[in-house]
Amino acid sequence: MAETNRTSAITRKEQYAELLPQVQGLLEPEINAIANLANLAAVLKSTFDFHWVGFYLVEGKELVLGPFQGPVACTRLQWGRGVCAAAWQEKKEQIVADVDAFPGHVACSPFSKSELVLPLFNDENEVWAVLDIDSSELDDFSEIDVDGLKTLTQWL
Ligand code: SME
Repeated sequence: MAETNRTSAITRKEQYAELLPQVQGLLEPEINAIANLANLAAVLKSTFDFHWVGFYLVEGKELVLGPFQGPVACTRLQWGRGVCAAAWQEKKEQIVADVDAFPGHVACSPFSKSELVLPLFNDENEVWAVLDIDSSELDDFSEIDVDGLKTLTQWL
């Protein structure tokens, strides 16, 4: 697990705390969901330099690619297969230290080594989207990321 960011001496927890006012200022005044998803993906990618940061949106029994930052990714993900679908189905975040060890992992990029997926809920407690973050490093995510990201996604 990475306690500190690879380009900075401050801890990842401190980085999430520093991002909070910036993200709140960016997202809170804006009601367009796509605009906010796009800006949050950009903030997370530029701050942490993850390999890929983006959103998949629930559409029937599929997840469809939404705003993202990083290399071209799979456009549609199926119910029952992969890390994003697991977060959707279980309504629970997924921390995968080694994607090759996750049965059914959908490999959109050979450079993705570890992954975190956070489900986003509507007012009816249904998942409407997932935030997917891929790292080129093994074991790059922890509960610190889950806590930080839950806080930052509250304005979506
Ligand atoms: N790895 C994901 C698919 C999406 S890409 O990582 C961008 C999964 O297993 O659901």
